[in-house]
Amino acid sequence: MSDGTPALTIEGLAKTYDDGTVGLEGLDLEVPAGEFFGLLGPNGAGKTTLINSVCNLIRTSGGRISVFGFAHDSMDARRLVGVAEQDPNLDRFLTVRESLVYHGGYFGMSAATAADRADEMIDVFDLRAKAHVRTSKLSGGMKRRLLLARALLHEPRLVILDEPTAGVDIELRHDLWSYIRLLHRQGTTILLTTHYLEEAESLCEDIALIAGGRIVARDTPEGLKRRYDAATLEQVYLQTVSTSLPAVMAAEAEAP
Ligand SMILES: Nc1ncnc2c1ncn2[C@@H]1O[C@H](COP(=O)(O)OP(=O)(O)OP(=O)(O)O)[C@@H](O)[C@H]1O
Ligand SMILES: [Mg+2]
Repeated sequence: MSDGTPALTIEGLAKTYDDGTVGLEGLDLEVPAGEFFGLLGPNGAGKTTLINSVCNLIRTSGGRISVFGFAHDSMDARRLVGVAEQDPNLDRFLTVRESLVYHGGYFGMSAATAADRADEMIDVFDLRAKAHVRTSKLSGGMKRRLLLARALLHEPRLVILDEPTAGVDIELRHDLWSYIRLLHRQGTTILLTTHYLEEAESLCEDIALIAGGRIVARDTPEGLKRRYDAATLEQVYLQTVSTSLPAVMAAEAEAP
């Protein structure tokens, strides 16, 4: 949006799960419209909790979230966001193509438009051979392809990808990033989580490191490396949010 409204504004976001586990603690974050943004942090840091909160998939315990200025639980916000969740949640009784066409329907597309977009996404994600196969019969990587195709189907202005390349082959990685880069060039805002730090470093304009449900650092990849006197983003990560390695590294440094 050219009026400067951020794609995402999060203020004081808190989430405590029913069993008492604290997922997020008073988290603040703003993602400008049009940015390619990376959210990095160790397992259990709160990345998926944050994403599920933004997408209104879980109930938050406190704080405020807006998407392009709309409350995150409004229909306006939902239409503007496309999410590929970390855990594939596909209807096992639908075929690949049906999954996409029905998704278009949920987002108010006409049957003809949804069908056209479904075919387009099937080609982008190389699912043509499986278009009429039930999702329960897809391989793990194919399920991931379908999740991504579905997330992008309704042309969201904010695309959220929660570990999209975990366990996928080199071809999908390549196709996915070239397509996402194209969307980004066209103005789409991207929020990505990944444990592949090189991927994040080459793709993201801006990165937030999260640990224990809080943002620990936030800057451009270059800015982070400068601030932490690090040659790579991985070194920044190890210095800021890694839970185990600093102790190991310190012990190594002390060894004769
Ligand atoms: N449904 C749930 N009930 C209770 N605790 C949960 C639930 N979902 C997540 N948590 C806890 O919330 C914390 C944050 O988890 P979250 O899934 O957000 O981490 P993450 O940063 O996405 O990690 P990963 O890199 O492993 O995907 C963890 O302690 C996790 O065990
Ligand atoms: Mg996660």
